[in-house]
Amino acid sequence: MMNPRDYLNQLLYPYASFTALRTASGPVVHNEKARFWEVFEYDDVLMLASEHETFSSDGSKFADHPEEFIKAQSILTTDPPRHRQLRSLVSQAFTPRAIASMAPRIAEITHDLLDHVVGQGSMDIITDLSYPLPVIVISELLGVPAEDRAQFKRWSDDMVFSEYDELTAINVEEYNERMRQVIRRTLDELYDYFRIVLAERRLQPCQDLVSELLAARIEGQSLSEAEILAFCTLLLIAGNITTTNLIGNALLCFDEHPETMDQLAERPDLLPQAIEEVLRYRSPALLLARYTTRDVELHGQTIPCGQMILGWIASANFDPQQFPHPEAFDITRSPNRHLAFGHGIHFCLGAPLARLEAKIALSILLERFQQIRRNREQPVETIHSAFILGPKHCPVTFKVRQE
Ligand code: HEM
Repeated sequence: MMNPRDYLNQLLYPYASFTALRTASGPVVHNEKARFWEVFEYDDVLMLASEHETFSSDGSKFADHPEEFIKAQSILTTDPPRHRQLRSLVSQAFTPRAIASMAPRIAEITHDLLDHVVGQGSMDIITDLSYPLPVIVISELLGVPAEDRAQFKRWSDDMVFSEYDELTAINVEEYNERMRQVIRRTLDELYDYFRIVLAERRLQPCQDLVSELLAARIEGQSLSEAEILAFCTLLLIAGNITTTNLIGNALLCFDEHPETMDQLAERPDLLPQAIEEVLRYRSPALLLARYTTRDVELHGQTIPCGQMILGWIASANFDPQQFPHPEAFDITRSPNRHLAFGHGIHFCLGAPLARLEAKIALSILLERFQQIRRNREQPVETIHSAFILGPKHCPVTFKVRQE
């Protein structure tokens, strides 16, 4: 059996990993031991995300222990009609216009972070830039102190269960049980933290998302405390860990294709398209999960009602039916209808923010620094999660561009 460490490091090269997996297993796999199904092709992952009446996001309807699901229930795991109501509440804070207004602050934070390393000639892209930037931004949006970010990082790591190292082999039952325990404990801690924030904002509302959620009404009713806690937790976790990995993955892709770094320094207008290609080529969120609401026929197999299905985004984004030469990292690829942010009613709420943060961070990095090089003799170590893809560290050297 493969060592989990090696397994995860292979995922850092998703094209090879998923092509091998698809060839070996076919388009639909029933993982009997883990009690879920898996799909790998673009059209199937798209169907999972689009057909919410057949593929529910709400695991509590089908679980042996629904109370565990209910505790963590957020918009991500809610079906219509409640989903639509919850989403309309926060979507105002995340419109492209509202997000665009955050650009100057994102640029200011990026400059501050780079000022700390400019004299060193070396930095860790993750520790020095791609972790602190999104966590400061989402903290300010929510209205929680960015100084608590070391704690936010520990909670984020735990929520995506980055403790693979503790397991000596991939043992599905052991893995699931450990994951359940860690997530339960982390949610307790996060909810205790946010309960105090909510109490403070009830006494003294501010111009932040927590205060807006407390004041929000749906058909005259305020949100329950559980709904607000789940919202805050989801935004805090989703708002930082994935964007951290998008920026880290971008550096890995550019480093493997150094010509892109020069091209982007000369033509910064290509950056948005390059970021889309990074999202396809190294998707930070590897998969999405759904539950069948009826028996479903797929590629000659019957998936019974109530089963969990994982749709591998990272595999769909290499489907040759959708992407010519999927193995090529091509920053001018067009069209590029990747599924990195999902699709349909649960399409990532934070996509405009993630794209803007990545664009600003990478453009300022390339504007201020040149000859950004990773020591390629050192193997990249991936973070230890089975859901999230990105490098744990990305040490680079650079030269400062003359003004
Ligand atoms: C949903 C990926 C950044 C908040 C999703 C989904 C994906 C995803 C794949 C859909 C999951 C599903 O259908 O089950 C990503 C990636 C990001 C990113 C790759 C960065 C590169 C963010 C940010 C925020 C955020 C910055 C918030 C500030 C959310 C929320 C949902 C979501 C709230 C649930 C939406 C709903 O259920 O209606 N994200 N995300 N994400 N994301 Fe993101």
